[in-house]
Amino acid sequence: MKTALTLSGSIRKESYNRVLQQHMGRALTAAGVEVTELDLTDFPMPIFNEDLEVDSVPEATVKLAELWRSHDIIFIATPEYNGGVSPLMVNTITWLSRQKPSPFRHAVFGIGGVSSGKYGTIWNLSHLRDSLSKVGTLVVPTLLGIGPADQAFDEKGDPVEPAIIRKVEQMVHELTHFSRG
Ligand SMILES: Cc1cc2nc3c(=O)[nH]c(=O)nc-3n(C[C@H](O)[C@H](O)[C@H](O)COP(=O)(O)O)c2cc1C
Repeated sequence: MKTALTLSGSIRKESYNRVLQQHMGRALTAAGVEVTELDLTDFPMPIFNEDLEVDSVPEATVKLAELWRSHDIIFIATPEYNGGVSPLMVNTITWLSRQKPSPFRHAVFGIGGVSSGKYGTIWNLSHLRDSLSKVGTLVVPTLLGIGPADQAFDEKGDPVEPAIIRKVEQMVHELTHFSRG
């Protein structure tokens, strides 16, 4: 059975990206994947600084890196901040990029984002895919850009737009069929 981790680049209490994280978790479970939902609140890391690497690598970094290395699929839902990737997500990726062996070269990754604007985090997704690719990540081609957030989900937290429902199915197919070999 394939295993997946899901996470959200927003730890805000009412985060829409967590709603997307949970929806993808249900979609992957329905496809026969064993899903573990992570909350980045449980993985606190200070703002990255090379000086801290000398003797202060956070325990959370080591733990998260091991989790990323030991799962087949990773789905990240993350908001767009000022046309870029959220600081929480950037900091998490920065810390993980310094871990050995690389936490980016085992799993197949899917990325998505929900924003209050109608462009659905397209700039965030473009930056995030680029940055993940630079550290050797295999990111599936389907991107889940969703917005405006307040019209995107029903009361169960499932997307309402047929185009988004189709994209979720497409991404689940890619995540469960692509492999790093
Ligand atoms: C600092 C900041 C910058 C933002 N920049 C953007 C942006 O560039 N594009 C956009 O669509 N939404 C932007 N937003 C709005 C977010 O899309 C919105 O707050 C979203 O709900 C955040 O995701 P969350 O609900 O998962 O916390 C920004 C919000 C904040 C706080």
